[in-house]
Amino acid sequence: MSSNNSGAPLRLLVIVASTRPGRLGPAIADWFVRTATPDADRPDADRPGATPDGITVDVADLADIGLPLLDEPEHPASGSYLHEHTRRWSRRVAAADAFVVVTPEYNFGMPAVLKNALDFLYHEWAWKPVAFVSYGNTSAGTRSVQMAKQVVTTLKMMPIGATVALRIAESTRDGRVVASAALDRAARGVLVELSRVACALRPLRTGAGGNDATVGGPVEGLTLAEARPADLAELLVLQRCCWVQEAFANDTLDLPPLRETLDDLRASLSTWRLWCVRRNGRLVAAVRARTDERAWLIGRLMVAPDQAGNGIGSWLLAYAEGQAPAETTHCALFTGHRSTRNIRLYQRAGYTLSATADDTPDIVHLTKERQLTA
Ligand SMILES: Cc1cc2nc3c(=O)[nH]c(=O)nc-3n(C[C@H](O)[C@H](O)[C@H](O)COP(=O)(O)O)c2cc1C
Repeated sequence: MSSNNSGAPLRLLVIVASTRPGRLGPAIADWFVRTATPDADRPDADRPGATPDGITVDVADLADIGLPLLDEPEHPASGSYLHEHTRRWSRRVAAADAFVVVTPEYNFGMPAVLKNALDFLYHEWAWKPVAFVSYGNTSAGTRSVQMAKQVVTTLKMMPIGATVALRIAESTRDGRVVASAALDRAARGVLVELSRVACALRPLRTGAGGNDATVGGPVEGLTLAEARPADLAELLVLQRCCWVQEAFANDTLDLPPLRETLDDLRASLSTWRLWCVRRNGRLVAAVRARTDERAWLIGRLMVAPDQAGNGIGSWLLAYAEGQAPAETTHCALFTGHRSTRNIRLYQRAGYTLSATADDTPDIVHLTKERQLTA
């Protein structure tokens, strides 16, 4: 079994790219998962199953996911999503390190549902390898793959060389794959190559070696990505710089962000989602968020002092709000009662002050109702 050389588990997303009743796609995806990752439990969609050697496999069947034709008003590169179906799809794709697309060929091209699912997102795809398992008649689906490669490279995905191409007449019977040694070898070869390339690309996504996930922010050169352990030391330095101003404004050094250690930050990754923004490689902003019953708690919004005033804070706040899960009804955050600059930023973003707690009069709480959509 292949494993990821970096020691980090490889999170594989297998995308089933056909939706019609009676389709072959799920049977082919099922064969691929069982053959290439024989130790993986067939996971349920919400909780990807982990194999003993650390590979996790999530199968995203586009028929179940049921995305409508692209209905987001903003360009996906903004990362600002109006609809819950987009946010769900975004979380699923963002969580992956590598993709296997199981696709038929329709009229010498890729299925429209695949193109649509790709178009919905942008930076979630970037700097991740993708392999294709195609199927069809004489061409074994390879023309679909050629078309898809042209699209995925625009999204900064890296198509790998290893591939599986099934001729339906030879390789399937009664809607199932007829396994053979050659096909099994091809499936395992895909996983090995995917794993190696995912490992090599990982530094591009952590910001250590390049610009992953370039996003359309308010100034040029910004990249936004979910924080990785390698970001945390730099993040701690940024956090302390940012909260010095808060200490002056509120006349106290007794602020948790100033006391937090690297271990605290590491531990926070298990309970919070944390995003880092880099400008031309340098960490310039961050924010974190988590659910608390019906609230989407947003915290530790920080922008490097020399970058303040150029819109990064508002833009990142909007991004964090956009990541709120469907079950939440409002966003909530707090700040020092004398942090007038922060309070103004939050109010401009639509937050309103809620009652101050008697036991923490120095802290103001703000909330904003979420715009709920289908
Ligand atoms: C709309 C449509 C177009 C098709 N075009 C092609 C084609 O261009 N080349 C090919 O090899 N097979 C083509 N086929 C046959 C498919 O390869 C075959 O039906 C396959 O099972 C489709 O995948 P699915 O069952 O997962 O939908 C086409 C099938 C459909 C429904």
